[in-house]
Amino acid sequence: MLEAPFLLLAAFSLCLVLLLFLRRYGMFFICWNEFILQPIYNMLTGDRKERRILRYVLQHAVAGDPQSVMETIDAYCSQKEWAMNVGDKKGQIVDAVVREQQPSVLLELGAYCGYSAVRMARLLPPSARLLTIEFNPDFAAITQQMLDFAGLQDRVTVVVGASQDVIPQLKKKYDVDTLDMIFLDHWKDRYLPDTLLLEECGLLRKGTVLLADNVIFPGAPEFLAYVRGSSRFECTHFSSYLEYSQVVDGLEKAVYMGPGSPAQP
Ligand SMILES: C[S@@+](CC[C@H](N)C(=O)[O-])C[C@H]1O[C@@H](n2cnc3c(N)ncnc32)[C@H](O)[C@@H]1O
Repeated sequence: MLEAPFLLLAAFSLCLVLLLFLRRYGMFFICWNEFILQPIYNMLTGDRKERRILRYVLQHAVAGDPQSVMETIDAYCSQKEWAMNVGDKKGQIVDAVVREQQPSVLLELGAYCGYSAVRMARLLPPSARLLTIEFNPDFAAITQQMLDFAGLQDRVTVVVGASQDVIPQLKKKYDVDTLDMIFLDHWKDRYLPDTLLLEECGLLRKGTVLLADNVIFPGAPEFLAYVRGSSRFECTHFSSYLEYSQVVDGLEKAVYMGPGSPAQP
């Protein structure tokens, strides 16, 4: 007689422990959101998460106000559905680096819904420009709409394509001489090959700042080992948390010292 309530309580406790575990630990946290919650929402709304984020912004944020756009995305993604924007905690580190560098030409690899593009572009003077590369055309379109709504469309060019294809075209097709700053936030296995490609294409100058997100989680070990071990880069780590979670993550700032920098002792 006592068995059924006991089993129910045991099952409930197990679910609770599992839920806490999923929330706390990185890969499980992402899997829970991406493969369990998101498909359920997709079925219920007949739409994709990124469209829901955009719709929420259009309905709740103030047009022409980038701060309100960022806050609205953060509110949606912390309260309703997790999404892979850099988020507010790491975003404040990105803000500090952009403010410090005051880049005239800034490149972003991986736009997604345009959160970080809005975040960085709002700090640029009207004469500066941000190019953001996104290979998913749906995400690129959402980014463009996000920037239009925030009133930042004149400072940002959304380029649809894969980073490895667009980077070699930056000089001729997009009139870039060298880059002042690069925000790396696309798939993590592209961080190192794209860094090498940027150098090979002559897009780095002495002092160009590479700022790489997610170097701890999901992690970019080859990139980290390379820039930290190379005399051509001076690195600083900023510890933080994965967006909208308690999972430890961090940003790496790697300043390019030029091709002929002396070897490290
Ligand atoms: C983490 S999200 C970017 C988040 C965005 N920077 C933000 O903070 O709001 C990564 C994005 O990179 C895009 N991506 C991944 N690899 C890419 C590549 N090689 N070239 C262009 N886009 C890429 C993905 O489609 C995805 O939208």
